[in-house]
Amino acid sequence: MALGGMFRNAAAIYLHLVGPFRGKKSGASLARCLHQTLAMTKRLQARRLDGIDHNPWVEFVKLASEADVVNLGQGFPDFPPPDFAVEAFQHAVSGDFMLNQYTKAFGYPPLTKILASFFGKLLGQDIDPLKNVLVTVGAYGALFTAFQALVDEGDEVIIIEPFFDCYEPMTLMAGGRPVFVSLKPSPNQDGELDSSSSWQLDPTELASKFTSRTKALILNTPNNPLGKVFSRAELELVASLCQQHDVVCITDEVYQWLVYDGCQHVSIATLPGMWERTLTIGSAGKTFSATGWKVGWVLGPDSLLKHLRTMHQNSIFHCPTQAQAAVAQSFEREQLHFGQPSSYFVQLPQAIQRCRDHMIQSLKSVGLRPVIPQGSYFLITDISEFKSKMPNLPGAADEPYDRRFVKWMIKNKGLMAIPVSIFCSVPHQELFDHYIRFCFMKVKDRPGGGKTSSSLPMPPAGMGRGAGPICVGAG
Ligand SMILES: Cc1ncc(COP(=O)(O)O)c(C=O)c1O
Repeated sequence: MALGGMFRNAAAIYLHLVGPFRGKKSGASLARCLHQTLAMTKRLQARRLDGIDHNPWVEFVKLASEADVVNLGQGFPDFPPPDFAVEAFQHAVSGDFMLNQYTKAFGYPPLTKILASFFGKLLGQDIDPLKNVLVTVGAYGALFTAFQALVDEGDEVIIIEPFFDCYEPMTLMAGGRPVFVSLKPSPNQDGELDSSSSWQLDPTELASKFTSRTKALILNTPNNPLGKVFSRAELELVASLCQQHDVVCITDEVYQWLVYDGCQHVSIATLPGMWERTLTIGSAGKTFSATGWKVGWVLGPDSLLKHLRTMHQNSIFHCPTQAQAAVAQSFEREQLHFGQPSSYFVQLPQAIQRCRDHMIQSLKSVGLRPVIPQGSYFLITDISEFKSKMPNLPGAADEPYDRRFVKWMIKNKGLMAIPVSIFCSVPHQELFDHYIRFCFMKVKDRPGGGKTSSSLPMPPAGMGRGAGPICVGAG
């Protein structure tokens, strides 16, 4: 029906039903009566949403947007992507008009091709662009597709905490049961918890979490929020348990280029016997400082990926073509520069390490004790001293201290961080309720330094100072 016709019909219905009562009391009661007839009484919410409808991010993001708050909490850069990536996007938008149309469901062919060749070398596999690569709506999309494709009712999924917070609801939505194992801090010789490497898994405890129902383990290295980069020895332990118990490893490696102090990122898929049972997830948003592009991917054996393709073709089906074209061209550029000083993957961590060090100094200068991250663009800092000096901050009695502290900090100091307890299971929150997370991927807003000081470390060449993001999401 033409739009004009629809409006005419709606106007006629209004006139017939409501017109005669206009201005009369009975108009209101008719409206109420109609509303009662139309309002749904059936249970609306699908059961898979039970228990996951409260998202603490929504609350904290709202608080940060209410006042003039410096947002050092959320995980996105406040500077532009490198020039070559921006130009690639501009080219994708203004060049071949067919890039305005759908492309192949499982990924724009030049992107799947370059991902296969680029990561094939890194992972030591002969990667087939059609069988071993799936392009998704960000790494988030890859995670969701993986959980939905592989986790069944009653399956157990081992989650290492603190963890990127979507792993738990994604497990639950798939019908799975999250099984948590915590990284435990062990102080160095001086009694300090000064590095993310001091946080480790207890091998016996980890082994005890595997049962005959364990379907998958989710690993995140470099880890958000801690910045821990799992060592080869730690990955070997995880790998041997996955093999022993026939478990799939889903590895979220979105921060793989952001490692500092000469630390090496190791992909668990490169360990003997692991390619066949591993899904490796990446993000162009994190790779090229373009989180709004929302291009992600998952790499793995066809035996696993064929199920993710089934899930993808029955849900998203297809990701935006122009963003994929821009990512393809950016990877082609990076492949030519790989390992050289001109590579963005070399320049970015060098620049961001300076941002990290600057933030560490600033936090120390106000009496905080940051845990130095080996990777990612986050660090956590210990607020125990505040907890003992100001134990009675406003908030509900059962609200973890770190959440009350962040609300206090937003209100009184105009500074936003993220409470670390939101990255933990409810029973373990008190282990982590005296830490808050900062994001140091910021050149505009700094703690202590005010905004935009020229003495501060700058991002690599080609990374200008943008106006800063206008919209924010979880991260
Ligand atoms: C560990 C981790 N995985 C995945 C994502 C999501 O990445 P994307 O923006 O590509 O969906 C994030 C975003 O913050 C993250 O921190």
